[in-house]
Amino acid sequence: MIELVSERLIIRPFATADLERFRHILCDAEVMKYSDGGPMGEAEASRWVARQIDNYSPGKEFGRWAITVQGNCAAIGYIGLTQQRGRAWDNVSELGFRLARKYWGNGYALEAARTVIRYAFERTDCQRVIAIVDPHNAPSIRIVEELGMLFHEEIMFDGYDYADRLYAINRPAPLI
Ligand SMILES: CC(C)(COP(=O)(O)OP(=O)(O)OC[C@H]1O[C@@H](n2cnc3c(N)ncnc32)[C@H](O)[C@@H]1OP(=O)(O)O)[C@@H](O)C(=O)NCCC(=O)NCCS
Repeated sequence: MIELVSERLIIRPFATADLERFRHILCDAEVMKYSDGGPMGEAEASRWVARQIDNYSPGKEFGRWAITVQGNCAAIGYIGLTQQRGRAWDNVSELGFRLARKYWGNGYALEAARTVIRYAFERTDCQRVIAIVDPHNAPSIRIVEELGMLFHEEIMFDGYDYADRLYAINRPAPLI
């Protein structure tokens, strides 16, 4: 389990106290517009948060973590580095992020994503971070490009009538 501090944010494990706040985020149709299954129902959102907490274990370096603004312990969203079953490659993790609507437009997702990518390459064996983005999701595409991720390929998921875009960034070569 990790806790990371950036210029304005703290990235920390989820706690049961986040359940209430997260229900609002995960049940918001605008926030969930590009997510599989769309907005969650309240019970599903509670299970989602509980699952993130259950997935933490000592020594486990990956997962989804709550984002808070320094000085306020309430979660404003999450950032995740996960190794998804079915689309897992060795030492590759998938970046994901989602913020409560009220906090959009401040560059928080970019700051959180930079922080976890640095963590992945400096403190774990991760060799490559990928992000799978809906082609219509302009803010997310802007963020992955600002992170220095490069378009790698289109990826077609079952049940979709258009392809998502897979972006990737590799672990930087060591300085000699
Ligand atoms: C994606 C998300 C986390 C971005 O939040 P954020 O940190 O507030 O990002 P910002 O609003 O600062 O926007 C990031 C960039 O996209 C740009 N952008 C925002 N809306 C845009 C739009 N409609 N069209 C084009 N660019 C847009 C911003 O100008 C900014 O670029 P800049 O840094 O060059 O100015 C937030 O929109 C969100 O939670 N969306 C729903 C969940 C989601 O789609 N998650 C991603 C799944 S991969």
